[in-house]
Amino acid sequence: MLLRGFSGARLEIVRRDGRSWVRKWAVDGGNERLNAERRRLGWLASVGAASGLFEVPRVGAGGVDGGRAWYEIEYVPGRSVESVAAADGHASGIDLGIRLARIAGVLRDGARGPDAEGHAAFLRGKLMQTAASLLGRCGAVGLGEAGATFERLTAGLDIDRAAEVASGIGGGCHGDLALDNALIDRSGRIVLIDPLASDSETAYWDAAKVLQSSLACWGGIKSGEVRMVGRSYGVARPGGLAALHRAFLTSVLAQGMDERALAVHLVVTLARVMRYVDGVRLGALLGASIELMYRLEAGGTVLDEPLDSLRGTLEPVLDGGAEIPAGDAGRADNAGACGGAFRRVG
Ligand SMILES: Nc1ncnc2c1ncn2[C@@H]1O[C@H](COP(=O)(O)OP(=O)(O)OP(=O)(O)O)[C@@H](O)[C@H]1O
Ligand SMILES: [Mg+2]
Repeated sequence: MLLRGFSGARLEIVRRDGRSWVRKWAVDGGNERLNAERRRLGWLASVGAASGLFEVPRVGAGGVDGGRAWYEIEYVPGRSVESVAAADGHASGIDLGIRLARIAGVLRDGARGPDAEGHAAFLRGKLMQTAASLLGRCGAVGLGEAGATFERLTAGLDIDRAAEVASGIGGGCHGDLALDNALIDRSGRIVLIDPLASDSETAYWDAAKVLQSSLACWGGIKSGEVRMVGRSYGVARPGGLAALHRAFLTSVLAQGMDERALAVHLVVTLARVMRYVDGVRLGALLGASIELMYRLEAGGTVLDEPLDSLRGTLEPVLDGGAEIPAGDAGRADNAGACGGAFRRVG
């Protein structure tokens, strides 16, 4: 059986020794990256065991076949944090948001933070890598204006400050803590998969990746469940995910993270995934990052309110009787009024 890897990795499930294993193959030219991923799984397993906050699947065999590296990890039956929060509603979202923030906290302290200058260069490099192909790709799908706005606004981002701030805290991280890379097993434990090592490491990556899912609706965009609604993009942001977002953001800010530096890292992570999508999905990522950069320019809070660029009739799922942030409640009512797929759970 084959699993789908978004970034192009081939995954298959193999049965051996009475267990199911996921065998993951490197993408072209990605052997070193896959090996780094495997080493990081080992480090994560030790932090998970010491903290008791999360687990990592057992790592099995590995090797190189036909010049391509692979390794196996045990298959974990369960669902992603993203789908659990979305289906189980508000209380579950809050619990998961708090637990993820604790995890990000213990990981953070596992390594030194980045050097400020090097990190600034890394952030700029990632934005430039996206910019290199962005305008051409945007023009081809009628997003030329959004592409140009994105480029203009990224040029005004305060990268140096964000890098300086990131250099002031630990650099330990999973590296790709988007909510589809955190699973909930049958006992309710959080199991982390698919880490990413990068050349400049900071705890800001993990927080930004959670927000990529919880605020910028990466799960829906990635799976293509997004469509134009007027000048915005309709993409599901269920109440449980919104609750996870609030709880996670509040916790990491209380741990001392800086909201503006976090927003800059989020823009960079969104720019990184822009390279893998096209059409309406690219439009949604551009819309979300442009809105974040306008909020940064405006100088107020940046990350707590849902993004207007991503509103739509597909959202949200809200618990009956839960305390709903005003922005989300308004959206739910709008969605209901538009006859969208609006439901309450609980
Ligand atoms: N050990 C595992 N147990 C259960 N499911 C798994 C496991 N490993 C991978 N999967 C499933 O396969 C999907 C893709 O795996 P993984 O995240 O490792 O690949 P990827 O190509 O790097 O993904 P992406 O770029 O989409 O994050 C996961 O989101 C998950 O649904
Ligand atoms: Mg993944």
